[in-house]
Amino acid sequence: MTQTRTIPEKWRWFPESRYGLFIHWGPYAQYGRGEQVLFREHLDPREYEARACAWNPEAYDPGLWAHTARKAGFRYAVLTTRHHDGFCLWDTTTTDYSAARQATGRDLVRGFVDASRAAGLRVGLYYSLLDWRLPAWFEGPAKNPAGWAAVRDYVHAQVEELLSNYGQIDLFWFDGVWPRTREELDADRLVARMRELQPDILINNRLGGKDTGDIGTPEHQITAEDRLWESCQVSTWRLWGYATGERWRPADKLLDMLCECAHKGGNLLLNVGPQADGQLPPAFVERALDIGRWLDVHGEAVYGTDGGDVTEFVTRGWQTTRDNVLYLIFRFWDERPTLRLADLITPVEQVELLTTGQTLRFEQDGEMLFIHGLPRIAPTALFPVVKITCTGRPQANQWGRERLWEGDPQRVAHWARQRGETPVAYK
Ligand code: GLC
Repeated sequence: MTQTRTIPEKWRWFPESRYGLFIHWGPYAQYGRGEQVLFREHLDPREYEARACAWNPEAYDPGLWAHTARKAGFRYAVLTTRHHDGFCLWDTTTTDYSAARQATGRDLVRGFVDASRAAGLRVGLYYSLLDWRLPAWFEGPAKNPAGWAAVRDYVHAQVEELLSNYGQIDLFWFDGVWPRTREELDADRLVARMRELQPDILINNRLGGKDTGDIGTPEHQITAEDRLWESCQVSTWRLWGYATGERWRPADKLLDMLCECAHKGGNLLLNVGPQADGQLPPAFVERALDIGRWLDVHGEAVYGTDGGDVTEFVTRGWQTTRDNVLYLIFRFWDERPTLRLADLITPVEQVELLTTGQTLRFEQDGEMLFIHGLPRIAPTALFPVVKITCTGRPQANQWGRERLWEGDPQRVAHWARQRGETPVAYK
């Protein structure tokens, strides 16, 4: 687990944020069938292009996006500046296939960047390397050397624009490198230029090659990495771009993913696909604001925490830590007045039900902590949190570290032997 304080100062904002908003938006939203409709349904590319050029998201209000994102508790936002369809959301000099030069008549990236920054969000830009319109991207340097060189330069120039014209960019999010390699892309030169333009930038790991980039980006899964990482997840069931009729994951499921990421020491980048007119889908806003209200009360258990897989509480919920504090995030409430928490060996100073601010009585008996006075009815519809302040960094005994499936099984044998002679014979 990467602990916040070993991260270079310029990147500390990232693990401290824990929660980012991913925004998949482009002319594909008009189809309402996800961000890849052009390719997946083999649409006529000329018709798609005509529709993209006619796209005019009249209700696009980046100030409202940013305001909503803040209220919902997000600390940064990442916008698709161009997806695999190649349509550019910003005002680029490299092509006319952009929002600014077509019916939209606006630089959608500028609005996003300015509004996000004004609202106090860190700014990330997603950029698809591949562009379905360009045969040379797929042919590559061996089959089409001249075409490939032009595509590679086009990509370099676009990235350079995005990092030159919009002030500080905190995170750059590459995607769609297939089938090209890091070498073919001359990615090392590109990255060097990116760091020259934006010395503090974080660059993700999807630029070809193994283990490159500053952050890992597990997709549709929450797997800890030995460096900064962020799990990107849809808030629906499958699609990133707007899709009519898609099912939405409920707020508790979304919050569960955020808490699991924090527990494992990483971030959640939660996606929304705005409608073609520019509005955020109401079903998303409702869920996001539910989580925002929860974060208003319980945010200290998430933001700026280190992971916290400290004790056997794992079957009840998630744990996070910050200095001397252990937070227990309850995924479900069992209506019992006392919680029996095993394995914590650090002396406890204070226990609080963070959800209500109520101080709780506790008894610590060796490796067993009893927390009393819990309300029968869950104090929140989402996840109640108990805050345990210790005299030092919360630590578990061997049992808490090795659990059921690790370490010397002799430990379990000793425990089983404690049973002694009982009337229940074993043979
Ligand atoms: C996958 C999808 C792409 C999406 C990305 C987000 O690569 O193909 O459409 O943008 O995930 O991580």
